[in-house]
Amino acid sequence: MDKKLPKFVGTINIPGDKSISHRALIIGSQATGIVKVTNLLESADVFSTMNALRKFGVHIIKRKNAYYVYGLVVGGLREYNGTINCGNSGTTARLMMGLLSTYPITINFTGDKSLSKRPMARVINLLREFGANALPENKNTMPFKFLGSYVGLQNDQKLNVPSAQLKSAWCLAALNTKGISTLEERFETRDHTEIMLKYLNANIKVKKLKNKKIISIFGKTPIDAKDISVPGDISSAAFMIILSLISKNSKVTIKNVLLNPTRTGILDVLKKMKAKIKIKNKKTVCGEIVGDIEAKSSNLKATTVPEKMAPRLIDEYPILFIAACFAKGTSNFKGIEELRIKESDRIKSMESGLKPLGVKISSTKSSVKITGTNSFRLNKKIKIDAKGDHRIAMSFYVLSQVLNKSFKIKDFNYVKTSFPSFTKTINKLKKN
Ligand code: S3P
Repeated sequence: MDKKLPKFVGTINIPGDKSISHRALIIGSQATGIVKVTNLLESADVFSTMNALRKFGVHIIKRKNAYYVYGLVVGGLREYNGTINCGNSGTTARLMMGLLSTYPITINFTGDKSLSKRPMARVINLLREFGANALPENKNTMPFKFLGSYVGLQNDQKLNVPSAQLKSAWCLAALNTKGISTLEERFETRDHTEIMLKYLNANIKVKKLKNKKIISIFGKTPIDAKDISVPGDISSAAFMIILSLISKNSKVTIKNVLLNPTRTGILDVLKKMKAKIKIKNKKTVCGEIVGDIEAKSSNLKATTVPEKMAPRLIDEYPILFIAACFAKGTSNFKGIEELRIKESDRIKSMESGLKPLGVKISSTKSSVKITGTNSFRLNKKIKIDAKGDHRIAMSFYVLSQVLNKSFKIKDFNYVKTSFPSFTKTINKLKKN
């Protein structure tokens, strides 16, 4: 290992939030006018959604720094009965199935090697109540044929899985279904779909009760076309925050980041680990809370993250595991089984990358324990397999930067799915 370690200093903007970008395109396509979207994330996943919508005649153009989505008069997409390739994007797959479930279409859904392993029966089961189906019927993974229904069937359901993609698929189906449909969400997940629908004056009601949330949607009613400004993605910002926290003499400020409380679990956990993080300039933009985040080099302490926190930081666990490697003591992450069905089995991917580096890490089906260290094993060539998973690739890249040791990361190109300017951003902050 080189003796001299780099520091990371500066002020940056982070690309647009991935979840909100998908939704701006899909929900925008259902508005009664033209929706102007600024700071849309220009990444492979979002382009998968854009390409899918275009197949159904949705007109989306880019002018200067904005995208314009030409919404349709309520209820109309052009007929298309071919194939949608969702690439690496689970959000494209689940949300597009939701949108299409109430249209009389037959579509082939396909994806890359990672997406083709991810469970889809959970979304099909939910959409079956609207009259949709997939063939062959007992297949849990893509490719398959997806059959929308001729008339959306109004329904009331309970969602027992903590998944915003499933909730959003249901909302999109309900939007094009006559009458009032209701969904009871047992575990609170990211609520960008509900926020965007309210912002565009859709006929949606959200009631928060003690241990659940009830969403009612009065379908086949108009959605207004309004400008949408996409805030910076906190899931991408997390890599820069942790890069700064675990490096010496570092201070990074990230402007205009999404601070929706369903997404800020990472900040709460890091603060509990004694991270020096400050939030500034908080405001609300298009219904979402946004602000600047400042993160400084910190002496982190180990922590326990309980299951109930998981939906609020589900995408941040890989980089949080890297932070735990630098914390004093043993951290314990509980109730994280959902990580096993992300772009890769993230528990397995992180464990197989960290163990050869000498990190004390152990796991069960649904938990991980990591003991912080200051002696990584870096004496030979380091090879990491990111397994088609952008967040695994970025997590190990951050570690390699902090340790000033180059890692050979297989599938590093998957970073383009969520954060194409990732290495450029780190280079901008890096001071030797
Ligand atoms: C997302 C929801 C989460 C998250 C994914 C994006 C969304 O997935 O992991 O990166 O945009 O709704 P699940 O809904 O499967 O938990």
